Amino acid sequence: MLADDELAPEHRLTRSLGWPHLVALGVGAIVGTGILTLIGVGADKAGPSVILSFAIAGLICACAALAYAEMATMIPASGSAYTYSYVVIGELIAWIVGWSLILEYSLVVSAVAVGWSGYASGFLSGTAFAIPDVLANGPELGGLVNLPAVFIIAVVAGLLIYGTRESATLNALLVVVKVIALIVFVAVTLPYFDPANFDPFMPHGFPKQVSPDGVERGVMAAAAIIFFAFYGFDAIATAAEEARNPGRDLAIGIVGSMLACVLIYMAVAAAAIGAISYTRFANSPEPLALILRELGQIGAARYLAASAVIALPTVILAFFYGQSRIFFVMARDRLLPAGLARVSKRGTPVRITLFTAVIVGLIAGIFPLAEIAALANAGTLAAFVAVSVCMLIMRRRAPDAPRKFRTPLPWVVGLGAIGGCLYLFASLPAKTQLYFLLWNAGGIVFYLLYGARRSVAGAGAPAR
Ligand code: ALA
Repeated sequence: MLADDELAPEHRLTRSLGWPHLVALGVGAIVGTGILTLIGVGADKAGPSVILSFAIAGLICACAALAYAEMATMIPASGSAYTYSYVVIGELIAWIVGWSLILEYSLVVSAVAVGWSGYASGFLSGTAFAIPDVLANGPELGGLVNLPAVFIIAVVAGLLIYGTRESATLNALLVVVKVIALIVFVAVTLPYFDPANFDPFMPHGFPKQVSPDGVERGVMAAAAIIFFAFYGFDAIATAAEEARNPGRDLAIGIVGSMLACVLIYMAVAAAAIGAISYTRFANSPEPLALILRELGQIGAARYLAASAVIALPTVILAFFYGQSRIFFVMARDRLLPAGLARVSKRGTPVRITLFTAVIVGLIAGIFPLAEIAALANAGTLAAFVAVSVCMLIMRRRAPDAPRKFRTPLPWVVGLGAIGGCLYLFASLPAKTQLYFLLWNAGGIVFYLLYGARRSVAGAGAPAR
């Protein structure tokens, strides 16, 4: 398991998706905790210039998306960055990329669950079902455990074990719910727009620097966190089997959903900063709802929170599903134990789903959102660098190979993506960088002890 043609018939999908569906699928996986919650963390780090952080992270992500679109249409196989690296560079780098992707996908599940919890707790507060603070926050924020986050992970894991795949129709509906909620936010807050809220614009400077309270701040420190808001378009690549015209439509889907999100986010960020002083929503677990409440727009705040509660689980589902997909592809190459990736009679990967659920549930229950998101970003940045490097290597190695999508100005875009991702990585908190290095050091040890001996390449066959 799990080559696409090995999927159970009820899971084999007809080629029914055109580019509008793919854009919807992309926006569905992209719009989530990044814009809804991390905007508050970004505001704490950069002040009003968080709007610049959004622009920078969006631009870097757009460059990587172009490289991604080229590789996804050249190698339309499961496994995304891991598979491209395997084919283009070799097994060891592919392993590091795959290991980073496991980190990314797992931690996005945890982070979005914590973001969901913020809006769910806010929505329920003041009702008979209000969740006490101590059960809605992990220890670092003075609580015991973030119970709603654990709850939503359990629900999504249950759905996956039951055999739920992203449904394009439901997804499209929820995308509309999310996008309308953000448009309502902009429409309701715009009349309160006060340019004075943008002053001072850059209170913590541009590059990452440590503030007196020990927190790393600055426009780039915020961009390194806000980067979280922009990815998820790679989820489209996993829908290659459903695309009517994979070449053209995948490229439009990836690039189109990215551009749509950049526009939406810039509007939301400008409206949020203009509405009230950023200090009032910095680090809030539900900043956009809080802004609306502070403006006296209680109905709009409840509407936004309800939309987040309904729509965010699709982001969790998309990344949870992606996680098991990556795991399978790596197990198929014998880099990970195949036993864990075994599927049940229903055709669902019960073991790996349960295993992942326990780990990501623990992380979501205990750690604060910003820390989880930062580490997820580190994994994603590694994968984006790898994809951009693969795109450039293939341009040299096989310049005339047919490409259904060609990145415009490939060297500018490719080197821009690589340089930008490295700069974002350098702007992450030092603690995150250390954790990321430790994660990969552990991964390399595992590879040497396990994968290198058993893999197809390790057994003497040439790398694919
Ligand atoms: N981009 C996704 C989000 O913001 C991961 O939730």
